[in-house]
Amino acid sequence: MAEAMKGIEKETVENAVAVTTVAAPTRTEPTAGRGAALRVEQAGISFGDFRAVQGIDLDIPAGEFLCLLGPSGCGKSTLLSAMAGFIEVSEGSLTADGAPVRGPDPELGMVFQSSEVLFDWMTVHQNVTFGPRMRGVSRAEQNRVADEFLGLVGLRHCADRYPGQLSGGMRQRVQIARVLANEPGVVLMDEPFGALDAQTRQVLQQETARIWEASGCTVVFVTHDIDEAILLADRVAVMTAGPAASIKSLYTVDLPRPRDESDPAALRLRNKLREDIGEEVRKAMRDQGLDDQLDREAKGA
Ligand SMILES: Nc1ncnc2c1ncn2[C@@H]1O[C@H](COP(=O)(O)OP(=O)(O)O)[C@@H](O)[C@H]1O
Ligand SMILES: [Mg+2]
Repeated sequence: MAEAMKGIEKETVENAVAVTTVAAPTRTEPTAGRGAALRVEQAGISFGDFRAVQGIDLDIPAGEFLCLLGPSGCGKSTLLSAMAGFIEVSEGSLTADGAPVRGPDPELGMVFQSSEVLFDWMTVHQNVTFGPRMRGVSRAEQNRVADEFLGLVGLRHCADRYPGQLSGGMRQRVQIARVLANEPGVVLMDEPFGALDAQTRQVLQQETARIWEASGCTVVFVTHDIDEAILLADRVAVMTAGPAASIKSLYTVDLPRPRDESDPAALRLRNKLREDIGEEVRKAMRDQGLDDQLDREAKGA
């Protein structure tokens, strides 16, 4: 591989179909738990006559951390919602460990950007043990689960508080613990730190990497933050601008963890990702007839 591309392996560009021909790398280091493999084949999702995404191919091996980047409105949340079983694919297929995803499943956990999804009237302990309680597990098992996963997110001391008594970052930790308490094979995260301040975000990014390594689950993480993707991902998939968005490119982040943002390979990857996303944003603006604005911006107006 040329020196300039060291640490960056671009698998495919602008050809979603070709992505299927690329074998996803398998993680070499053993994982602590068990993740589920996700396979998306020629998937399309429509809302009535509007085709949001089309021809999506993604082969995500068990235990992988995949980041999904793309211009705003391209269909990242739509694709993630389909992976969570909240919406159905209109074309193609979507499977978790070989079984079609047909609806919401504790095996497929979703962490949302907003912590409003927490139950305000329940304590942190009750929020985190909600899933196991619904499955009818014993009180002792509920306590074990709360202890383990609140421990993992560093919030054991907050078990008896209510979400309203916590900071935004702490609430996101509770949300993550609540999802992990179901011991899912796949954790889907939709810009989970997008509403947090920069410092809290940084802490939670580091915690996410640690939790992922400890849990062994597969993670699909949507973000619009290129640096966040480089910090966290095994691979980064970039989507084209919608409508009918597909996968534009797929990069392997071949950098040791914990990641060093100033590593020259990280800087080269950042530039590549910026280029790819920039191209799509410009395309979207042209499609929307906003070229004039682009020209003005280019001239520094
Ligand atoms: N329930 C829905 N009904 C109709 N259109 C939708 C629905 N959800 C999303 N869309 C459209 O699908 C496209 C992709 O949206 P979304 O997945 O939210 O984008 P992203 O998360 O990448 O910003 C957008 O054009 C959006 O307006
Ligand atoms: Mg979104």
